[in-house]
Amino acid sequence: MVEKMKAVGFQTALPISDPKSLFDFETTKPQATGHDLLIKIQAISVNPIDTAIRRSTSGKLREPKILGWDALGMVEAVGRQVSLFKPGDQVFYAGDVRRAGSNAEYQLVDERIVGPAPQKLTIAQAAAMPLTALTAWESLFEKLQLNLTASSKNARQTLLIINGAGGVGSIAIQLAKLAGLRVIATASRPATIAWVKDLGADAVLNHRQPLIPQLRKSGAQYVDLILGLNDLDGHWAEMAEMIKPNGHIVSITANHQPLDLSLIKAKSATFSWEWMYTKSYYQLPTMITQHQILEKVSQLLDEGALRSTLRETMQQINAATLRKAHQQIETNHSIGKLVITA
Ligand SMILES: NC(=O)c1ccc[n+]([C@@H]2O[C@H](COP(=O)([O-])OP(=O)(O)OC[C@H]3O[C@@H](n4cnc5c(N)ncnc54)[C@H](OP(=O)(O)O)[C@@H]3O)[C@@H](O)[C@H]2O)c1
Repeated sequence: MVEKMKAVGFQTALPISDPKSLFDFETTKPQATGHDLLIKIQAISVNPIDTAIRRSTSGKLREPKILGWDALGMVEAVGRQVSLFKPGDQVFYAGDVRRAGSNAEYQLVDERIVGPAPQKLTIAQAAAMPLTALTAWESLFEKLQLNLTASSKNARQTLLIINGAGGVGSIAIQLAKLAGLRVIATASRPATIAWVKDLGADAVLNHRQPLIPQLRKSGAQYVDLILGLNDLDGHWAEMAEMIKPNGHIVSITANHQPLDLSLIKAKSATFSWEWMYTKSYYQLPTMITQHQILEKVSQLLDEGALRSTLRETMQQINAATLRKAHQQIETNHSIGKLVITA
């Protein structure tokens, strides 16, 4: 007999206030083959990509699509080629956007993009971390080529993080401080300003006000590195002005207008994109690095060198809870991470 599982999905791009924007349904419980792990989901974290995919889908999908890829759960079964994990292991991961997501009772995920869950955190605290930690890690240590353990070398560099209080910024501040950098973060409200300071930001600029005069007032003309985590179009001209000659800018958000790269030509500055799904989307041999990064993040969390960015926990993974969570993410004012436990 075919086993069934509960899931939450969507078929058309409806406003989140519409009760049909996300709905509960039953589907076939998947089976693990090859490098796949079958995970019993214990908690999920909700990210802007979930709402972005829901909202940007055109027409009606033939089958409901299961969103949400960031998750923590227990390995229930493994494919024949699996060598990194066994049934009973507790793991966390950000998944693969080409496949069914984690807003369900069970999910398949390739072992090469999965890490062992931290043991000293609660399920919700740990579930908050994978997608944002992978994004921040790849931005800092792959794109900007910083070295986590070269703190004396990094101490000479200043990193500006635009959007310090969101999910990615909250872990990027901690990783950059751990690596020894001076960190300037942006935040615009008393609650977000307090949050980024508490996470270790050395200085705070308000991204609702022009950034250049604030930077100059703080005594600096340029910053060495910039991590752009919100509104690339809105901040691009300022980023080009604030980056030092031969500096490096990384953006994790897309532009919606043509990006004028000529603004950084005279400075010979570098611009890089970071998308944490590139490795799994294109099935790159480097996929295994996401296993290694998550293993390291797990260890740093257990050691207390990093702390969870969990800010709010909701209970029960169903359509009603997920509609509330999407509504919150869509405000674009989130602080840290929102997690839903099963
Ligand atoms: N490329 C990738 O791999 C990747 C990975 C993760 C996320 N992303 C994308 O990166 C973005 C950030 O993700 P996230 O999870 O960190 O988001 P998030 O948690 O939803 O970010 C919310 C924060 O954004 C700040 N913010 C709002 N408008 C801003 C603006 N104009 N300039 C600067 N900050 C602003 C808000 O601060 P205030 O309330 O103080 O204004 C709020 O604290 C999203 O667009 C997401 O889709 C990309």
